Amino acid sequence: MDLLRHWHPVCLSRELTHRPRRVWLGGVPYAVFRTDGVIGALPDACPHRGMRLSTGRVRGGQLVCPYHGWAFGPDGVGKAPGTPQMRPHTACLEAVERDGAIWMRRPGATGPFPAVGPGGFHPVSVTRHRAAAPLEATMDNFTEVEHTGAVHWMLGYAPEAAEAVQVEVTARPDAVRVYNRGPQRPLPAALRALIGLGPADDFIDDWTSYFSPVHTLFEQYWIEGGTEARRPATVRIGVVYTPVHDDVTDIYTFVHTNAEGSGPRALALRLMLRAFAEVEVRLDASLLGRLEEGRGGLEGRRLGRFDKALRLQRQRIERLYRGPA
Ligand code: FES
Ligand SMILES: [Fe+2]
Repeated sequence: MDLLRHWHPVCLSRELTHRPRRVWLGGVPYAVFRTDGVIGALPDACPHRGMRLSTGRVRGGQLVCPYHGWAFGPDGVGKAPGTPQMRPHTACLEAVERDGAIWMRRPGATGPFPAVGPGGFHPVSVTRHRAAAPLEATMDNFTEVEHTGAVHWMLGYAPEAAEAVQVEVTARPDAVRVYNRGPQRPLPAALRALIGLGPADDFIDDWTSYFSPVHTLFEQYWIEGGTEARRPATVRIGVVYTPVHDDVTDIYTFVHTNAEGSGPRALALRLMLRAFAEVEVRLDASLLGRLEEGRGGLEGRRLGRFDKALRLQRQRIERLYRGPA
């Protein structure tokens, strides 16, 4: 399984300070570090005697091993101060800082960069939440709306309106799209006014999942009740699922909106969205920790009309993400 051929976020930008940090991808530890505006990512084991490089420090553009002081640049080329003629080196990864996160993949890999930062939209927040669940179960949870009424505070559809929610699934070889439309669940009047909603609007949650890396791009908006007129407010959310270990997945959430300007209303809307994203994804992560489901967990299950995308996605994860390049 060659996960390094895909780009993955491995920590948030704000989590990587002047100190190196240990991150995990597919059960393998790496040391990431910043130096002179460059991000380095190396296997987190010194090629000398295996010390954790992430417990060292960054000096002179290199990551210095805390055991015997061998030092390595972001290109993996090192030096051993006690034996200057020696040229130790370690594997290195390609690492970049983008959209508020640190991403890495193998140098020369061709996996595309996921479009989590939509052009023309305004960033609201970037967060990371850890779920004690496999990648597949985590993606399942983000790609059906049936749980939203029971689990979420604001997002999705009220349980009593679930029957009225329309779900359309379209599969392509490399993507699965799900379009959901149904009555907006009751919200406090102040919140409705802030978003610009009427009393009988439909909420649209239209998302597409891709598999290199495994991620889903959501477009959420509203349609005025009794008409086909789209309300101006639109929220775009990119969710990237990074498999930290077999049963642990990090959920990176990139929230953007078209609400522009620095006036009090736009500001209040962005603050509300930020709080909303934090609370709602935290609820998902906590729920996933209580879900006992293995990676092959759909066989023999009784699936409903909201679960149609799940098998299609799992097939694509197997083929496009975990399978041979
Ligand atoms: S183990 Fe890293 S320098 Fe010796
Ligand atoms: Fe959810």
